[in-house]
Amino acid sequence: MNLPTQMTAMTIQQYGKTPVQKQTVAMPMWGDDDVLVQVHSASINPLDFKIKNGDLKLILPFHFPLILGNDFAGVVAAVGKNVKNFAVGDEVFARTDTLRTGAFGQFIAIKAAHLAQKPSNLDFNESASLPLVALTAMQAFEKMGLKSGSKVLIHAGTGGLGGIAIQIAKILGLHVATTVSTANTAWVKTLGADEVIDYKKENFNEKLKDFDGVLDTLGGDTLLKSFEILKQGGKIISVAGMPTAQFADEWGLAWWKKMIFSLISAKIHKTARKYGASYEFLFMQPSGKRLESIKIWAEQGKLTPVIDQIFTFDNTQKALEYSESGRAKGKIIVKIQSVE
Ligand SMILES: NC(=O)c1ccc[n+]([C@@H]2O[C@H](COP(=O)([O-])OP(=O)(O)OC[C@H]3O[C@@H](n4cnc5c(N)ncnc54)[C@H](OP(=O)(O)O)[C@@H]3O)[C@@H](O)[C@H]2O)c1
Repeated sequence: MNLPTQMTAMTIQQYGKTPVQKQTVAMPMWGDDDVLVQVHSASINPLDFKIKNGDLKLILPFHFPLILGNDFAGVVAAVGKNVKNFAVGDEVFARTDTLRTGAFGQFIAIKAAHLAQKPSNLDFNESASLPLVALTAMQAFEKMGLKSGSKVLIHAGTGGLGGIAIQIAKILGLHVATTVSTANTAWVKTLGADEVIDYKKENFNEKLKDFDGVLDTLGGDTLLKSFEILKQGGKIISVAGMPTAQFADEWGLAWWKKMIFSLISAKIHKTARKYGASYEFLFMQPSGKRLESIKIWAEQGKLTPVIDQIFTFDNTQKALEYSESGRAKGKIIVKIQSVE
């Protein structure tokens, strides 16, 4: 295709509650190791509204205007001169480079190392629903160091992350418990959950014991209570709790941020010590290599996308608000406006 010089994207000019704006912006710049992708579908993650609201300012230094969107599927439109494994026309999917968001735009540039061919049996909407949550689940289970047969609790099994994490845990041979509200107890069993706790009626910390790991997607009191179900040496990986000093070191953050994270995670570490367990905060990383496993699992029928609703490009703000309601069952998709 002849590449346009401008494109349409959903942007923010500053952090806050003001809605995203549909704007005409310059095409993304792509370098020698990058691929330019024409985006067909994007998926929403709570990360999008957290970035928009400025909740992640301490971790992610963005510049404005900022195009939001962290997950996409589309077609390769151009490749940098060092890129050997992708060609124009390839159908691909990815979680964006961490500081190069922009899935809510007609084109996006991404490092080739973060991209993969999309699953051949899935459409663009289904493919866009997978990268961020599937990579998060894989990285969380790796950090837990679990073996086949290990017991893991996944909080919020009906969430965008939970529904995929349950399936990946089963692929890895884990015994899975999950927490959901009353209406969804039967449904999460179809995803593979072995034990289902109705969080509206039961206390998971009174029903579960001797677990090896917990994937905490809720933080707060739920995270603290989760230590009670672990065996000695068990591990909680949280994607919604407090970052730690260790996380600040891994990310090379300033000393004062490390101090803040050390203070705000002190109570969690104290609780972990009390139960002979450990705690780590995870912020997932893009990875084309891991996406190749996700593609294979999808093609083998072992990993099935879970989609709640599909929004038009013009309704991206509504899609973000629906995500922020915290009530989605599976993933929310935005169909990106096609290029004229
Ligand atoms: N750090 C990272 O790298 C990373 C990566 C991925 C996700 N995350 C974070 O992980 C969290 C979850 O993400 P997500 O995409 O799954 O969010 P989501 O799709 O918005 O989660 C919504 C789901 O959570 C369920 N839920 C709400 N309260 C619950 C409770 N107390 N117990 C059990 N289930 C509950 C809701 O079920 P009901 O409506 O039935 O209550 C709903 O289905 C977010 O905070 C996100 O930012 C972080």
